[in-house]
Amino acid sequence: MEHNRLSKMRSHTALRDLVSETHLHKDQLIMPFFIVEGTRISDPIKSMPGIHRISSDVLVTEIGELLKLGVRSVLLFGVSSEKETLAQSAYRADNIVQKSIRTLRRHYSSDELCIITDVCLCGHTLNGHCGIMKGTEIDLEQTLDILAKIAVSHAVSGTDFVAPSAMMDGQVAVIRNALDDNKFHKVKIMSYSVKFASNFYGPFRDAYGSAPQFGDRKTYQMDYRNPGEALREVEQDIMEGADVVMVKPALAYLDIIYRVKQSFNIPLAAYNVSGEYAMMKQYASESGVPEKDLILESVIAMKRAGADMIITYFAKELAQWI
Ligand code: PBG
Repeated sequence: MEHNRLSKMRSHTALRDLVSETHLHKDQLIMPFFIVEGTRISDPIKSMPGIHRISSDVLVTEIGELLKLGVRSVLLFGVSSEKETLAQSAYRADNIVQKSIRTLRRHYSSDELCIITDVCLCGHTLNGHCGIMKGTEIDLEQTLDILAKIAVSHAVSGTDFVAPSAMMDGQVAVIRNALDDNKFHKVKIMSYSVKFASNFYGPFRDAYGSAPQFGDRKTYQMDYRNPGEALREVEQDIMEGADVVMVKPALAYLDIIYRVKQSFNIPLAAYNVSGEYAMMKQYASESGVPEKDLILESVIAMKRAGADMIITYFAKELAQWI
């Protein structure tokens, strides 16, 4: 025998499934939602075909459908038209996220639905930055104080996880302390530990109304040339009390996902971001390649790299396919 014919293991579907090394489960999918004030609103987001800004009544219906399909985790973003210097609206009890959490909790317990809420200032500040700016620099102390207030107000409303995405040094520790001080020992932290200053967030900023009005996010989000620094970010977040760490974006950062998974023993989320979504949608529609094939290939790549869970705008479609 000159060589082993490895291709014999590829001859039939059942066989290929039997020997497949990577598995994607519905339990591992997290669907993001953009919520707005009002009722019966489903406002299409131009740059993200198929995704809408929705009011909380529509959210309840949408989540009902997702649950039927087997997806049980959601990530909530509250789209706010109230922009303030100190992002005060973000931690008001009657803010749209807080209200939506309470509405969802009336319908679904934590056993049925895992609610994760994004904690950041960019959707609530006048200038669209993720922290409070003093001139062109972040005022870290003031920013951390506000992030902690937002996290606690989400906890009061009944969220399961807060997900700080501001990329402010020390944010996980400050939030953990604030949650504990307010007796929310059981509320968990999914940290956007490795969030790169990426060009793939464009459609999200459009949907969320959070594009920075001046400068960019390079002084707080990570430089995409630095895998070593990514590991240090994860290490610090774990020490500060993160329960799940995240790498974001996903598709152009599979090496980072792989390295984090190899280096740390903690649940790892990959965020398949808005620009990746738009890119795949457009390629599928222009090339005629079936969306299902394209999306499964890319999401399986994230799993193969080491992601335990995937935040993706394709969660609903994926649940129908797997
Ligand atoms: C808020 C935030 C952003 C995303 C998630 N949380 C945008 C940003 O940092 O500008 C991006 C998500 C996506 O592109 O799908 N800080």
